[in-house]
Amino acid sequence: MTGKELRKKYLAFFKERDHVIIPSASLIPENDPTVLFTGSGMQPMVPYLLGEQHPQGVRITDSQKCFRAQDIEEVGDNRHTTFFEMLGNWSLGDYFKKQQIPWMFEFLTKELQLDPQRIYITVFRGKEEIGIPRDDVSVKLWQEQFTNIGIAAEVVDYAETNGMQHGRIFYYDETKNWWSRAGIPSNMPIGEPGGPDSEMFWDFGAARKIHENSSYKDQLCHVNCDCGRFMEIGNNVFMEYRKTATGFEPLPQKNVDFGGGLERMTAAVLDEPDVFKTDLFTPIITKIKSLATTESELSQRIIADHLRAATFILGDPKGIAPSNLDQGYIVRRLVRRAVRHGKMVGITKSFTFEIAEVIIKEFSDDYPELHENKDFIIEQLVQEEEKFNDTLEKGLRQFEKIATQNITGHDAFVLFTTYGLPIEIVKDLAAEKDLTVDETAFEAELKQHQALSRTASAGKFRGGLADHSVATTKLHTATHLLLEALRRVLGDQVYQKGSNITQERLRLDYSYPDKMTTEQKQQIEDIVNEQIKKGLAVSWQEMSVDEAKEQNAMGVFEHKYAEKVKVYSIGDFSKEICGGPHVKNTAELGHFKIQKEEASSAGVRRIKAVLE
Ligand code: ALA
Repeated sequence: MTGKELRKKYLAFFKERDHVIIPSASLIPENDPTVLFTGSGMQPMVPYLLGEQHPQGVRITDSQKCFRAQDIEEVGDNRHTTFFEMLGNWSLGDYFKKQQIPWMFEFLTKELQLDPQRIYITVFRGKEEIGIPRDDVSVKLWQEQFTNIGIAAEVVDYAETNGMQHGRIFYYDETKNWWSRAGIPSNMPIGEPGGPDSEMFWDFGAARKIHENSSYKDQLCHVNCDCGRFMEIGNNVFMEYRKTATGFEPLPQKNVDFGGGLERMTAAVLDEPDVFKTDLFTPIITKIKSLATTESELSQRIIADHLRAATFILGDPKGIAPSNLDQGYIVRRLVRRAVRHGKMVGITKSFTFEIAEVIIKEFSDDYPELHENKDFIIEQLVQEEEKFNDTLEKGLRQFEKIATQNITGHDAFVLFTTYGLPIEIVKDLAAEKDLTVDETAFEAELKQHQALSRTASAGKFRGGLADHSVATTKLHTATHLLLEALRRVLGDQVYQKGSNITQERLRLDYSYPDKMTTEQKQQIEDIVNEQIKKGLAVSWQEMSVDEAKEQNAMGVFEHKYAEKVKVYSIGDFSKEICGGPHVKNTAELGHFKIQKEEASSAGVRRIKAVLE
């Protein structure tokens, strides 16, 4: 079975069980100030897990594009990637453990025909201090699945210290079997949803245990260890709690959030522990090998992963280009590191676009945006590679000059901003000389430089709500007013290209070639403030994409939407396809003020504005 077939099978399996298949949401989150990228299938679903009505109903399934920047360093082994596809199925207050666990067992053992003898399960141990009980309900359901087919399913606690003891089902603590966007319960901001989870692991077999010379060698075997024998292939999150000021309270509805990495599930089905040897990667690796003159598995994996991620980010309808800021900064690092590894395996010509062509071909059936944005992807890669090649030699010379001692944060900062060497490359070069790099100081200086409140190295959750606070909800409604005002003043060629909202300000990127005049800016502010004064009601209606188009609703990223969508109206002034949330009436907004209007990228302008 190929990865492509697996993706289809999974979606079909849940469709047969009354789930609606929805397309992947954008890799660039809308209106979520806490993260740079969508890093799980659950992220775009948060409003619905909290109780908002999903236009497609209470059973949803999809394959979501995900990117986790924090895994950049780990790429190179046989299982870590920065970009991956997460297969997901959701119950939004509908079914719960009793249906989900048998379904997953059926899917893994019947549809994928995985040998049940080689599947292991983990379950939440419970935590008295926060009042969350041990998940014995899930244990019982899993036990039934195994015993029904004649497999004993012993339950073992504390395998992490005592070993597997012939167990099949294992309890672990909140660092392993609790899921929220913020991680463990104590890191969750108030209002954030989360819950215990139950994970499925595939056993590649003791003979496959890698790192024989590493510290794992003398450790007791257990499923949640990283030695390489076991691999997590799926996670059922039973999302039923919300963080409060004092602890946890039940959510108004019990949800299921299942997520399974397509790459890893495919690896299990093929019984091939190296995800780079599955069809999701082999055409890319083959192309790299055809261009290279020397073999290096590490370089091949880094090039394949980084360019796959860069292609998907550049191919996202939001039009992110390489830059020194936010998502653009991540793309820059991915592309440049891939280029350097290309040189290490003897590729001398411009090559990233050739790899991207393979990726676009392989994935466009399932992610048509790649094909639609092919020209942009190729053009950006060629340009970025050229820019990097222009500075690389100078950068390497400069590095040699200063590399007589450990690299300070300031040196790393200059190497990046003046000589174009991203931090990963500086670290690679330093490691080759047994030198260290002061990354913390580098990040601090870069952050200061970017004048941003969040680190661009992230993709990590940094607290601060998810974010349905009053402040961000107001700014979200103001963004709709602003977009319509821009169209009225500048014309119909204005479309939203991106939006980002923090507690303090909104930021809107829109298509328009020119700088605004002072008069235009004033006019736009006036229009928005007029709508606020009028006290317009904000309401929404559910309809098909076609109906929404007929009603001239704004909707920027069309193929992200499934059949039924929510359309938000602000009086008769604005109409936009949007998931919410919004204020009930514009009178709640206060005074709107544009703080900054600037260029964002070619043909795209950026406005930052506040409500006072
Ligand atoms: N949201 C869960 C995860 O990402 C399924 O693991």
